[in-house]
Amino acid sequence: MSPPDLHPVPPEFAATARLKRDDYERLYAQSVREPDAFWGDVARRLDWMQAPTQIKDVSYALDDFHIRWYADGELNASVNCLDRHLATRGDKTALIFEPDDPAQTAQHISYRDLHARVCQLANALRGLGVKKGDRITIYLPMIPEAVAAMLACARIGAIHSVVFGGFAPQSIADRVHDCQSKLIITADEGLRGGKKVPLKANVDAALKLPGTNSVETVLVVRHTGAAVNMQMPRDRWFDAVVDGQPVQCEPERMNAEDPLFILYTSGSTGKPKGVLHTTGGYLVWASYTHESVFDLREDDIYWCTADVGWVTGHSYIVYGPLANGATALVFEGVPNYPNVSRFWEVIDKHRVTIFYTAPTAIRALMREGEAPVKKTSRASLRLLGTVGEPINPEAWRWYYETVGDSRCPVVDTWWQTETGGILISPLPGAIDTKPGSATKPFFGVQPALVDANGALLEGEAEGNLVLLDSWPGQMRTVYGDHPRFIDTYFRTYPGMYFTGDGCRRDADGYYWITGRVDDVINVSGHRIGTAEVESALVSHPKVAEAAVVGFPHDIKGQGIYAYVTLIVGEGESEDLRKELVAHVRKEIGPIAAPDHLQWAPGLPKTRSGKIMRRILRKIAENAPDQLGDTSTLADPSVVESLVQHRRVP
Ligand code: WT7
Repeated sequence: MSPPDLHPVPPEFAATARLKRDDYERLYAQSVREPDAFWGDVARRLDWMQAPTQIKDVSYALDDFHIRWYADGELNASVNCLDRHLATRGDKTALIFEPDDPAQTAQHISYRDLHARVCQLANALRGLGVKKGDRITIYLPMIPEAVAAMLACARIGAIHSVVFGGFAPQSIADRVHDCQSKLIITADEGLRGGKKVPLKANVDAALKLPGTNSVETVLVVRHTGAAVNMQMPRDRWFDAVVDGQPVQCEPERMNAEDPLFILYTSGSTGKPKGVLHTTGGYLVWASYTHESVFDLREDDIYWCTADVGWVTGHSYIVYGPLANGATALVFEGVPNYPNVSRFWEVIDKHRVTIFYTAPTAIRALMREGEAPVKKTSRASLRLLGTVGEPINPEAWRWYYETVGDSRCPVVDTWWQTETGGILISPLPGAIDTKPGSATKPFFGVQPALVDANGALLEGEAEGNLVLLDSWPGQMRTVYGDHPRFIDTYFRTYPGMYFTGDGCRRDADGYYWITGRVDDVINVSGHRIGTAEVESALVSHPKVAEAAVVGFPHDIKGQGIYAYVTLIVGEGESEDLRKELVAHVRKEIGPIAAPDHLQWAPGLPKTRSGKIMRRILRKIAENAPDQLGDTSTLADPSVVESLVQHRRVP
């Protein structure tokens, strides 16, 4: 590490920062030494209907496993995000909505307006028979109704499951089936980069698939105004059901450990799992990390470019910012529409002060050169953040120098759907940054590195990243499958939470995440399980077998590389290759479509029949000279042919 690559906290920033250098060391030590006192204090940032007296109650021991935080506390998340701000911030803008088409007027929605909209929708849901504990699927574009829908569920104690608008009917159906949701909130169409997304038609197709009978009602937001099929009495127009409702709605009293939401995410095996977060600990974590990591001030205009379909949108567009009374920008569009200056133009238009995006977007915009950035001012910016995947130092530097004019600290925030919020990140007024490192753990977070046998590694080291103890925002279970929760995260290294990530710790104690060590591919910051893509491929009648691996990709971080064996008698052709890629796109969604698909007359297997992915990864990486030992293969000759016909130069 050359010294110029250390970026000290800018003194001007530190001067007014919420948390300074000494605060970090002191508070971190206290958070780990006295978790009950520390997290009891932090919890006072929320409005409780019943203040918690029990704070941390956790055991990772397999014979006495439980995770409970604030277990006797009662609160309502929507009250914390809305009602409690009305007296002091009623007229403050809660949401700025910037539509896909910049020619359409942006909307400013005050806390008072958002409160009224949420109450109306909550009343409407109650009127449709939704009760505390029911599951509601939300399949919406990035429009204010998406935020309102989440908060309306929270208000009446319904558990929301947001499904990303890019997912295909089969993926919607799987998620509806898994949690047996009884109502879906969707829109006629979405709009992204000028292109229409047939949301309602996708819901119609999903509800024709088996296992979706639980759905009684579909609420349809009129967004583009397109004509859509309405199947009465199942389908109801959102405005018709919501507009006449009272603007007050009694919130449900929720125990801190009552579920707030389910969010499906990919693992290394099987179908996506329903990550379940509860109310009290999650909201404490989302709001406290949002305030600390982004050094939040009352007059900030905060913009996180994620979609509410991912956890980043849950924690850092909706729950964190609104619990903190912040002004959050909701952006319907994409970075390159109508031109590649769009992000920077939106920043100037709304005078954004804090900007939080993904490395993949930074890399894509970096390709376009400086001019599209430099023609905008960006003078309002004071802090930049990234999330979702490792950021390469070149992209970090471009973000810092070109976007932030070497003025704004960059916070590289490491976390997961499972963690509820940020766990490793710089605090911008307290921790010097190094491009490519997420730096240091947040309060209460105890990262450690272990080797393959679970032995703890000390000092400078590289290994698998584990967390030694719980934090309030931790997921509580896999919905409907508690054994899978324990097996996935707590059995690999008993007594520890296993993240699935590899990581290096340098001599200064900084953490450098190196990426997933399991069969999860991170494509543009989105998690895709290799098993899911494989099962989509083999569901095609001409496919006998498939193996999917990740490979390094300049823009996406990782791309998807599929090896496909056809059933005997089927011929390999360009048309079939396209058909199979389209098939995956149709089954899961565009984000899962393989970048490369190679015909594999045979796959490298051990004598016991296990596919040796290590070899397939090396071929996909175009490193055929690093295949390692192939002598244990049942038929070593298959490798030769795969290497010869690889899809990369
Ligand atoms: C995986 C979690 C966290 C919300 C978005 C993704 C990778 C995430 C970073 C980062 C290096 C990162 C990890 C992690 N990841 N942030 N700052 N540096 N890697 O949530 O879909 O649950 O994915 O994303 O591999 O395990 P997710």
